[in-house]
Amino acid sequence: MRSHYCGTLSAEHVGQDVEISGWVHRRRDHGGVIFLDVRDRTGIVQIVYDPDTEGPFATAERVRNEFVLHVRGRVRPRPEGTVNPDMATGEIEVLGVELDILNPSATPPFQLDEHSEAGEDVRLRYRYLDLRRPEMQQRLKLRAEITSCVRRVLEEAGYWEVETPTLSRTTPEGARDYLVPSRTHPGQFFALPQSPQIYKQLLMMSGFDKYYQIARCYRDEDLRHDRQPEFTQIDIEASFVTAADIMSLTENMLRRLFREVLDTDLPEFPTLAWNDAMRRFGSDRPDLRNPLELVDIADLMGDVEFKVFQGPANDPRSRVVALRAPGGASLSRKVIDDYAEFVGRYGAKGLAYIKVNALADGISGLQSPILKFLPDAVALQVLERVGAVDGDVVFFGADKAGVVNDAMGALRIELGRALGLTEDRWAPCWVVDWPMFSETRDGGLAAEHHPFTRPVGTPQALLANPKEARADAYDVVLNGYELGGGSLRVHDAEMQAAIFEAMNMGQEAQNKFGFLLDALKFGCPPHGGIALGLDRLVMLMTGTAAIRDVIAFPKTQTAADLMMSAPSEVDEHQLRELHLRIRREEQQAGH
Ligand code: AMO
Ligand code: AMP
Repeated sequence: MRSHYCGTLSAEHVGQDVEISGWVHRRRDHGGVIFLDVRDRTGIVQIVYDPDTEGPFATAERVRNEFVLHVRGRVRPRPEGTVNPDMATGEIEVLGVELDILNPSATPPFQLDEHSEAGEDVRLRYRYLDLRRPEMQQRLKLRAEITSCVRRVLEEAGYWEVETPTLSRTTPEGARDYLVPSRTHPGQFFALPQSPQIYKQLLMMSGFDKYYQIARCYRDEDLRHDRQPEFTQIDIEASFVTAADIMSLTENMLRRLFREVLDTDLPEFPTLAWNDAMRRFGSDRPDLRNPLELVDIADLMGDVEFKVFQGPANDPRSRVVALRAPGGASLSRKVIDDYAEFVGRYGAKGLAYIKVNALADGISGLQSPILKFLPDAVALQVLERVGAVDGDVVFFGADKAGVVNDAMGALRIELGRALGLTEDRWAPCWVVDWPMFSETRDGGLAAEHHPFTRPVGTPQALLANPKEARADAYDVVLNGYELGGGSLRVHDAEMQAAIFEAMNMGQEAQNKFGFLLDALKFGCPPHGGIALGLDRLVMLMTGTAAIRDVIAFPKTQTAADLMMSAPSEVDEHQLRELHLRIRREEQQAGH
């Protein structure tokens, strides 16, 4: 039903008879002449009907937005002065000769070309309409190109795609599981995989050597703009490799992707130790486009009378840091108060600052609510250490290290943006030398990545000092987003058992992962891998800030599908088959 796609027509087709099919993007009636912008997935072209073509003109008068049309006509140059340089097909138009309405359309609930007006909920409820918008189509097209390029790169490198089950049992990646009740095993549940982690390791044990999968993963966790409950990983695993092998494979893959899909060369990937990333940026996924850094000053604050600083300065689990914001001395009191409130959201109890008006005047050239609590020499030493110059403001954070890192790390990002310091470029990096464990709120240990990550050293050393254990893990970060994470894996049963023991999971591990501990005894090769978040990668590569924009049918912030109304209630019969009963009273009481 077409000779050409709308968006492919250009001056070279002038004089040709063409046949196109698509949707009415816009209809304009210019006193006697009707213009129809007709759209398909390649773009939009203008069709003109004049009253001479009686039948088609009458049809064109009836046409409304989003009607589906079939058009025959002849391409001609647009008249002088009506060329539209903003439109790919703006030099030409099609003089309509025939017009069939293939299907009318009800009035859409929102304008497809003025999307910004429509609320997110309406867009998600009518996602199939929202997806008609050219920018949505372009993003999903780019996603397809990215996946295709990933497959090419990995296949050329000898990786085999293997599918792994999605009806499985728990794979610990730190989130809650989505569970699926079993009909054939009353009272038992499958878990949807949080990642294919265990399967891909088992494939290494089976001798597959190099595996990849574009894998769907499920995590029931708090959602953010860069997280979905159901998302896709580029999942990779290989045997007989070093961390450097996996890192260079990943880097090459990303380089090829940016070159082939975006026609851009990625810069070098600097490698940062986790400790240094936390110290300098307060984050394990630093945005290196932002030049601001946190500077430790605890050593200067040990004896000061200002308790807010002195306490943390003498506590090894705390930090006192300074953050210099160039040009920030002009920030108003109101703006600084807003920043104090902002860091408060991350647990900070305040936001001390010193404005540097005129360094040459010494202390009197400074402006700050905390100078009265600090010896002059200390204040000046701090300014010297951060390299402050006239016009700067220096902010301070003092608290438990976790609070300072979160709060001042977030402030760093915010200031970089607000002061226009964050550069517009690609800034990838590796973060390595991860701690094996982090402490949980109840004083236990949780795996910083997952419990299959190989710690550096022996099982005995791990158990003797688990909090200090380091892991052979690496994360790839791009512009402040954690794009992917991976590691070398444990490949012997003794080390795996030691990790579970350190996590106080002895018997539980035997029950949940006994099969893995067994598998490790049958000649497991050393192996390692990585998984990259495909959705996040596409989000960054398409320049959108919302992961929902690169997923055809995403979920809302509350993990619901507004279009399908999922999740939904099921009928009594289905529940009975699954041996389930809904506890309604508790559900109500709990709300
Ligand atoms: P990890 O948990 O770091 O590692 O996940 C890998 C990458 O997946 C992406 N990602 C997400 N994207 C969207 N929504 C989510 N809810 C979400 N959660 C994670 C991130 C992340 O970097 N099995 C290990 C990998 C390995 O060790 O090989 C794993 O899953 O971009
Ligand atoms: P206060 O003596 O509590 O009024 O605090 C004096 C200054 O220090 C105010 O500017 C507070 O915002 C700031 N402040 C208080 N607690 C902290 C903290 N934990 N870290 C950084 N600044 C703080």
